[in-house]
Amino acid sequence: MTQPEPLPSAAATPAPAEPPSRPSLPSLPGLPDLPDSHVDAVELSGPRFQTEPAQVYRELRQRHGPVAPVLLHGGVPAWLVLGYREVLQVTQDAALFSRDSSLWRLWSAIPEDWPLRPLIGEKQESILFTVGEVHRKRADAVNEALFGIDPFALRDRSERIADTLIDGFCERGSSDLIAEYARLLPALVLAYFFGFSDSEADEVTHSINDMMDGAETAVESQAAFYTACRELVAAKREHPGADATSRLISRSPTGSEEEIVQDLMVMFAAAHQPTAEWIGNTLRLMLTDERFALSLSGGRRSVGWAMNEVLWEDTPSQNVAGRWPTRDTVLGGQRLHAGDLLVLGFAAANTDPQVRPDPAVSTQGNSAFLSFGHGEHGCPMTGRESAETIARAGIEALLDRLPDVDLAVPAQDLLWRPSPWMRGLSALPVRFTPGPRTLG
Ligand code: HEM
Repeated sequence: MTQPEPLPSAAATPAPAEPPSRPSLPSLPGLPDLPDSHVDAVELSGPRFQTEPAQVYRELRQRHGPVAPVLLHGGVPAWLVLGYREVLQVTQDAALFSRDSSLWRLWSAIPEDWPLRPLIGEKQESILFTVGEVHRKRADAVNEALFGIDPFALRDRSERIADTLIDGFCERGSSDLIAEYARLLPALVLAYFFGFSDSEADEVTHSINDMMDGAETAVESQAAFYTACRELVAAKREHPGADATSRLISRSPTGSEEEIVQDLMVMFAAAHQPTAEWIGNTLRLMLTDERFALSLSGGRRSVGWAMNEVLWEDTPSQNVAGRWPTRDTVLGGQRLHAGDLLVLGFAAANTDPQVRPDPAVSTQGNSAFLSFGHGEHGCPMTGRESAETIARAGIEALLDRLPDVDLAVPAQDLLWRPSPWMRGLSALPVRFTPGPRTLG
């Protein structure tokens, strides 16, 4: 596949005057002609979203302002909302900017095998794409299910699973902390609290990571994940327990099996991937930035600071699709039509110069980032708190067990995953003094 033209570099210069980059991927055959607003749109893909997303967002902002025309896979037009104020405006006004994906006016031109279909959400019955009263009731059920997780038990279980995972590589003196740690911990912890058995937890964790990777077996893994959730819901209907799935079933506003399974899958997937990337991105920051070097030798002092900084500078949730205007409107100076697709640029909004005129000013103690979204479809507080407990427990356990952990490759050789949607590392190779297992 040809890579798209890079945007011209605009570091510290005014908006470039040369011709804009044009799409390099062939357009989907059924698409109508690009609207005038999108003739100089850039593709929301390509290596620069991997290597220097912040610079790309800066350039887009310089050229288009807080709302930029972009092209998704196959030349599909969309709007990327880059401004902090504009993201708040969209997420706070669910009547004008709906989460109902059926409003998208391009569905008829989108083929069945378009790879972004699952992300945009056609025909999904999950909570993500419901609106109004139906959404409120489903969100209450999800919240109740998560609220019942005892934070002390969550911390305890996270530490225990962290220790088990570290036992798997501590005697070796080296590890890839993404594959062997960050991408296992949240799913294994959550599987326990959702009521999966230990062996089911291993299988579900494998399936969900396979799906996230878009591996060759991703479709099979998605089916396996669906089946596992469906079987769990059936089992918990028969024999309810003190787990999140049983609470989700008992609070379900309709009792529909399919809805409950979909919401369980959303809770699991929406929780695991960003939390895994949050752990990985924080460990990378602590291992590469000298401000945090002390905490590696001295313990936990700045873990919270590093976790917070990641949510400002390298948030896992870079861009989230989507919202659809319910009528023609103007946003950030751009004319939007009813049914246009909006992508929420949380990462770009976090570095909007309107709210952070001096990026060098420390973000310590400031948690006004938009990384958890905002408004009625934002990440529920119970989700944020659970994510923080799991991530912090995992990072602290690792630093306690491997106090001299260090990168095994030069920092500039670390690779980010090629995705404009989620920011996370492909691998985090480290070395450390081999130590004994603790759990036997
Ligand atoms: C235990 C961990 C987590 C759980 C259980 C969880 C759960 C959820 C759920 C159920 C939603 C859908 C809300 C709705 O549509 O009503 C959601 C949305 C969201 N979550 Fe989380 N989440 C977790 C961790 C995270 C983390 C670590 C991040 C990012 C750093 C994150 C970012 C988001 C964002 C940006 C949205 C909003 C998407 C939008 O506006 O369309 N979540 N989360």
